[in-house]
Amino acid sequence: MITSDEIVGLIDDRPEDGVFRVHRRLFTDPDVFDLEMKALFEGGWVFLGLASQLPRPNDYFTTSIGRHPIAVMRAADGSINAFINSCPHKGARICQLDRGNAKLHVCPYHSWSFDSAGKNRAIKGKAQGAYSDGFDRDSHDLRAVAKFGDYRGLLFACLNPDVGPLEDHLGEAKTLIDLIVDQSPDGIELVPGVVSFTYEANWKMQLENCSDQYHFSSVHPSYLRILERRTERAFEGATRNMWDVNKVHEEVPGEPTGGTYSFDQGHVMNWRMSDVPEALPLHERSAILEQRYGKEKRDWMLHSRNLTIFPNVQFAENASSQLRIIRPISVGLTEMRTYCFAPIGESGEARRKRIRQYEDFFNPSGLATPDDTVVYEACQEGNASQGSPWLQGYGRGMCAAVKGPDRFADQIGLKPASSVAADRWLSDETIFHAYYRAWRDRVAAVADAQAVRATEGVA
Ligand code: FES
Ligand SMILES: [Fe+2]
Repeated sequence: MITSDEIVGLIDDRPEDGVFRVHRRLFTDPDVFDLEMKALFEGGWVFLGLASQLPRPNDYFTTSIGRHPIAVMRAADGSINAFINSCPHKGARICQLDRGNAKLHVCPYHSWSFDSAGKNRAIKGKAQGAYSDGFDRDSHDLRAVAKFGDYRGLLFACLNPDVGPLEDHLGEAKTLIDLIVDQSPDGIELVPGVVSFTYEANWKMQLENCSDQYHFSSVHPSYLRILERRTERAFEGATRNMWDVNKVHEEVPGEPTGGTYSFDQGHVMNWRMSDVPEALPLHERSAILEQRYGKEKRDWMLHSRNLTIFPNVQFAENASSQLRIIRPISVGLTEMRTYCFAPIGESGEARRKRIRQYEDFFNPSGLATPDDTVVYEACQEGNASQGSPWLQGYGRGMCAAVKGPDRFADQIGLKPASSVAADRWLSDETIFHAYYRAWRDRVAAVADAQAVRATEGVA
């Protein structure tokens, strides 16, 4: 059994010595994986999806919390809840599809049925079944998750009844979620279509990469060359986005054009001023958003932003807008589910532009995602080696990070635990510290609790 001291010892966090290193075991050890599933995915708040995925009564979608299959349903009365997608009879998964609309969910094995509020509606052949009274002292309903929460249409759940409120888990990140949801008075929706794919590496590779600006010019040169060529040859109708090489801003080394924010719960965001804001689909709402929220918040909505709500969801607003849900399957296998998200009610032209930019850059068929997943797998192979145990990819920005907000955060009243304001070359890595401090504290607590249970068991 891994002890909490061992877990703490896997993060070499010595700010007084200017050192932050992470042990390779975090990416390769199945026992560590088991503990982090318990602590982070099954022991705390996890993102499920959007309320706008369930527009009508009896709509549902399926997802997972750690190793538990989950069905999220809108009941006939309009309320939403999440259930363990497992039949009380013999455990079969009840909802088999990714999404749908059903008043009644019939288990594929022996046909017990449940309504969209999770209530058991029928047990096949109950009258003839010679059941005892004791049988009906058990509930036959679907088991609801211990806690369910909705922040502005973002749905979260938790299997641990002792966890604090969702509001506390989100904390200051709520301000960053508001930047997304406020893009339309009706909030955001998913553009139809989902892509899911797996990669053969640890789930934390995706967690980190979304916040990793350092890799961009190394991993995506073919993408950058294509952008250059489109500009040189002025291809008619070529997709442009905020990374277009035909830049509006002249950048001065050392002059901040972006940066990173970290929060105590492990949430982080990296951001950059848009090079070509008029290429953004949201640009059409620029004046309205300024009127409603003021120039500074409007500008923040137009900045490129990658937000991670720890541990399993990322909102990437850069080349287009992508929602990424991370599902760890094993220590070396991860499933990603990705969607294009968009403000509800944007014009057809904006939506067209958003989708073109989306398919250009993202997904296994786009110009960037395959390059990223290839390097995740390269890391997984390398980390299985007996190389130096300590990874050094956490040192950039150590001398640039400041406690609390910076002047850009002040524009929207954001209060991060730490901030880095940077030019395009700094590529801060202290942003990852927030992940691993939250990781260490929560995983060590679960290791402690297991040790206590084991001792009590022995006693
Ligand atoms: S497992 Fe569901 S009815 Fe038997
Ligand atoms: Fe990338």
